[in-house]
Amino acid sequence: MLALGSASRYANQPYVLLVSDRPSERAALERAIALVMDCRALAPEAALPAARPHLIILDVPPHRALALDQTLGASKSAVPRLVLARGEPAPLTGAHLRQLPATTPRQIVLANAFAMIEEATRSAETRKRRLGEQVTGATAIVSDLFDSAALGAGLQPADVDRGTEMVLDAVSEVGIGAWLEAVWRYDIGVYQHTLGVAGHAATFGSQIGLGRSDLNRLVRAALLHDIGKSRIPVEILNKPGPLNPEEFRLMQRHPEIGAVLLEAQGDFEPVVIDVVRHHHERIDGKGYPDRLAGTAISDLVRIISICDVFSALTERRTYRQPASGPEALAIMVEAQGHLDPDLLRAFAPVMLGSNALAA
Ligand SMILES: [Fe+2]
Ligand SMILES: [Fe+2]
Repeated sequence: MLALGSASRYANQPYVLLVSDRPSERAALERAIALVMDCRALAPEAALPAARPHLIILDVPPHRALALDQTLGASKSAVPRLVLARGEPAPLTGAHLRQLPATTPRQIVLANAFAMIEEATRSAETRKRRLGEQVTGATAIVSDLFDSAALGAGLQPADVDRGTEMVLDAVSEVGIGAWLEAVWRYDIGVYQHTLGVAGHAATFGSQIGLGRSDLNRLVRAALLHDIGKSRIPVEILNKPGPLNPEEFRLMQRHPEIGAVLLEAQGDFEPVVIDVVRHHHERIDGKGYPDRLAGTAISDLVRIISICDVFSALTERRTYRQPASGPEALAIMVEAQGHLDPDLLRAFAPVMLGSNALAA
């Protein structure tokens, strides 16, 4: 099994990943490609970089090409691949794939590589622009929802639906890593947190195979889960440090406040209100506000609770360093009695795997 190495100097800039078991061909291709874009040329047994490449060139036997493609998750994350096939084409699938016989003259291989780099650059720019629009749009929707709730004005279910579509489209297009990176550019804690939880819910829900309507419901619930915080004083919400007991009690009222607010509207589904009211319950019955335990806590609530805690631990805060994905998961697993252990087991690989090629 090939290891994914740590992010290198290539982490934040586009690069071509070339894996070849022919040292002289590898060196020649690397020199030529480096004229247009950084090129990381590796032997097949080397550790692979963690950052998402712009283009992958595989010059190895078919079984190796397939193993590398799977390790990189390349077809799933739609990274373009150019394969120099030995004999039969390698059994790879997915879009953005070109295969040429390994005997193809180097000039033709390079012409193909350059064309693919250009195409990938164009689509990366389009994708980045679109992601920016989606995050701006979703932030505006969440901020409107919180403002309306704070003012006692009506919340529009249609706005929540638009936000849900934006989160689902963006996360399925660019992955949770790029979504969070874009969301975190905004310096507004509660909206960032909301969009982070929604992004994790979209990823987790689709990975565990929820159908479209359940997935929509899950993301809608995530967008609204902390709506009760709209009624908590900003000084408490943004306090840079631990809350005193009185502030803490007030903060703990946000699930109830949110649920009452949505119930009063009359047009939000009971399952969504259930999430808003119960996302701080614990499996062992020591949560709040209703001290529900075990199966009294619905599946949707359990999923959102996991996404909520994971988001909170990994978010950047002014007063502490964020936990890494593995650190956050270790904390969550250790906090026995809090979260659903089976769902947590299903969640772990989803979140640990999401950073590999999601940038
Ligand atoms: Fe909350
Ligand atoms: Fe939350």
